[in-house]
Amino acid sequence: MATRLPAPPEAGLLNGLRFGTDTMRFLDGVQARFDDGTAIPIPGRPPLVILTGPDLVADALERPEDFPRIPAQGAVSMIAEKGLVQSEGELWSQQRSVMAPAFGGKQINAYADTTGERIEARATRWAEAGARETDLHCEMTSLTVRVASEILLGEDIGKARADQFHEWMAVAGEEFEFGIETVLPEWVPTRTSDAFRDAATGIRELSEELIERRRAELEAGERTDASDMLTMLIRAEENPEVEFPDNQIRDEVATFLIAGHETTALSLTYTLALLSWNPDARRRVREEAQGVLGDGPLTHEALSELPYTKRVYREALRLYPPAWAVFRRADGDVPLGEYVVEDGSAIIMPLWSIHRDGRHFENPETFDPDRWQRRDPNAVAAYRPFSSGPHACVGRGFALAGSTLVLARLVGEFDVDVPESALDDLRLTPTLRPGDGVSATITPIE
Ligand code: HEM
Repeated sequence: MATRLPAPPEAGLLNGLRFGTDTMRFLDGVQARFDDGTAIPIPGRPPLVILTGPDLVADALERPEDFPRIPAQGAVSMIAEKGLVQSEGELWSQQRSVMAPAFGGKQINAYADTTGERIEARATRWAEAGARETDLHCEMTSLTVRVASEILLGEDIGKARADQFHEWMAVAGEEFEFGIETVLPEWVPTRTSDAFRDAATGIRELSEELIERRRAELEAGERTDASDMLTMLIRAEENPEVEFPDNQIRDEVATFLIAGHETTALSLTYTLALLSWNPDARRRVREEAQGVLGDGPLTHEALSELPYTKRVYREALRLYPPAWAVFRRADGDVPLGEYVVEDGSAIIMPLWSIHRDGRHFENPETFDPDRWQRRDPNAVAAYRPFSSGPHACVGRGFALAGSTLVLARLVGEFDVDVPESALDDLRLTPTLRPGDGVSATITPIE
């Protein structure tokens, strides 16, 4: 007979408090104690389920009809309510297929090439500036948001807007930080700050501006050959057989402005930090990169020459998964493995803790890029930085290709040195964010 996942012996509220006040340590503790997962009773709410077993995680992710995403509400819905990272069911399926052609192999190459051009310009500026200190996370955000806007929306939003975006994301990060309210009963009201409301308005207005400009261009018969995601959405909306809810395109643009850059910026920041603490790995990336760096920008053709750099990036995604957890809820009392998950349970699949579990990874805390030579990352159930199942990351190919080129260019030409303590204060928002920037010293190498 199917049973419930075990509850920890401590009282529910105590667990809730621990979860709300020191989430990561709490999740690591749960990971160590439960093979499959736990269901924590929370007063006034359905239980909080934490899945720790990779096979149960994979099963839950394959079944969005039983384990749908938690609908956007509160602060999140002020930015976008039903973009591709929030929607479910028919709307999600329609939108994913409308946008799928924007993420094929040809587009991955175009994305890699655009990244190569952008990073070339950035590296030239870094070289001219000489040795200096900077906020690495801010640098990576302004780089990736410009690449994302150029490739997905057909327009580079420019440096000032990109820097502004970094500020907005910092404000949003504070608003979305996991805290005690995550486990408060649902009747306790929570508030949003004025700064957050301004950031959400800024992101929505920027999205509307980009859409209006593109509509005007298309109506004027300009850019008729554009094949970016925004053009695809506008064309799909004109098709009488496709039904778009109000503001759907704005929600998608706002969603992609964020999803298309934030995790990539974080992953690059974490990889450069890890390389700074692992000089041997940095030397190997540099040697490999110097074999492909020439006079012009790097292109997708260099990717096949950068196997070690790819392994480094995959290993950084294991130790510092920017999407530190995946969230779902149970729609009905639903079977999962030998268990039944209670209707309405919020479900957390803590990628961070699973990626650092010694049952699945040898020396889990060690940065060992060569583990991905011994193992095929696609065959390791416990390794899923891009999630899996129908909602698996649509931008995975972009991130892997673009980030490899960024790392090759930067590590090939600069020492990026990050203090050992730089990642001590990581905040849990929907992504894993450095609390107060990541200060780094950048020095052109001779
Ligand atoms: C290192 C970089 C990235 C990481 C670690 C990452 C991670 C993830 C994860 C874990 C999910 C699944 C969330 C869930 O199951 O609820 C996801 C979904 C998604 N990602 Fe990414 N992502 C990255 C880059 C990108 C990029 C570059 C784009 C856009 C070009 C993107 C767009 C999306 C979208 C639209 C979804 C929702 C897919 C769907 O539900 O159909 N991501 N990502």
